[in-house]
Amino acid sequence: MNWETLTDYDALSDRAAGIFLAAIRNDPRIVLGLPTGRTPVRMYERVVAACSREYHCFRDVTSFNLDEYVGIDRTHPGSYYNFMKQHLFDFIDNNPANAHIPNGAAADIAAECTRYEGDIAAAGGLGLTFLGLGSNGHIAFNEPGTPFDSRTRVVTLTDSTRAANAAIFPDGDVPTHAITMGIATILESTSIVLLASGEKKRAAIERLRGGEITEELPASVLWKHRDVTVLVA
Ligand code: GLP
Repeated sequence: MNWETLTDYDALSDRAAGIFLAAIRNDPRIVLGLPTGRTPVRMYERVVAACSREYHCFRDVTSFNLDEYVGIDRTHPGSYYNFMKQHLFDFIDNNPANAHIPNGAAADIAAECTRYEGDIAAAGGLGLTFLGLGSNGHIAFNEPGTPFDSRTRVVTLTDSTRAANAAIFPDGDVPTHAITMGIATILESTSIVLLASGEKKRAAIERLRGGEITEELPASVLWKHRDVTVLVA
């Protein structure tokens, strides 16, 4: 695992955007795994700014988001679909047909999970995946205790995760379930970049740095992967 400690959130975002942009320049047909949450916001800002100066930055890029809430429509302000529009997709020239996000409002959620997993495989698998980190060590919505061989599926969110994500649901109506890529799905990505910024992530990062690989700390599975960069600020 390659660890980089950056001076602050801005520096972390610059570095993450640098990795992101280098990857799409190197392979304009890359398949990306993309996160939501507060942490990647400034990375996306930097990517959008750079791509506004370049021609056809995202034209041939395919992306798969890590997760989505269940039971809310895509147009709901708290949906990750809406997040991606606001922070990236509305400002780049990607083909919307190649920007995949699980549909949390699908009539048959189990079928939606299977379809999503199949779409990732059909795209040739993930090339570069960015991950945020939950303060309990979760990646995507794979909470502590998730088997490392898990695939895209529906999960029940823990109270702490629902509380951490409550701000975007002003009526306090945080969804109880989500669709998430599984740990095995994520681990098949060729390269992975984990972003962790701020005091709330400190304990999980220190535990991760300790090196014990345990399902109680989902991010610790990254020690099993050969190309992981951890950016900490
Ligand atoms: C949510 C998301 C995760 C994200 C985590 C951390 O639970 N499902 O993918 O990594 O929050 O979010 P933040 O960056 O806002 O701290």
